[in-house]
Amino acid sequence: MSAQRTQRGHAGPRVLVIHGPNLNLLGVREPAVYGSETLADIDRRLTALAEELGCVVSSYQSNSEGALVDRIHAARDTADVMLINAGAYTHTSVAIRDALLAIGLPVIEVHLSNTYRREPFRQRSFIADVAIGQVVGFGVDSYLLGLRAAVGVLQRQRAR
Ligand code: DQA
Repeated sequence: MSAQRTQRGHAGPRVLVIHGPNLNLLGVREPAVYGSETLADIDRRLTALAEELGCVVSSYQSNSEGALVDRIHAARDTADVMLINAGAYTHTSVAIRDALLAIGLPVIEVHLSNTYRREPFRQRSFIADVAIGQVVGFGVDSYLLGLRAAVGVLQRQRAR
């Protein structure tokens, strides 16, 4: 596992957080479903928790499927574990699924809403069975729980 420096100067595992389409509009987008926090708020909360957990978080958002695939490819050399909320591409994108399989990093799927309580088309995920696990339905806490899970995955990998 490679390491970078956290803001406090500690070396730590690298966690890439990928945010898919329309998540740049969090805060104004359907607040009853997705809450009132913005993407910047989520990234700030992740960075604060990463400091506590001793890892380094970087995040990337795009509305474009190809750009997301390119960023996933780049993670092969730049990250140790990935959290992904692929937004609507979760339910449609074989390309994102294939990119995750191609790089072989451990992946944790997160969603703000409980996709299993929503429309039937949201209940299918092309990512779920290539991920280690899913955290859904806890709003921003889905990301924070996902980050804790990611660090646990790396710790277990290291102990092997
Ligand atoms: C989402 C759920 C998706 O179905 C939806 O298209 C999103 C957000 C979530 O975080 O709850 O864009 O991924």
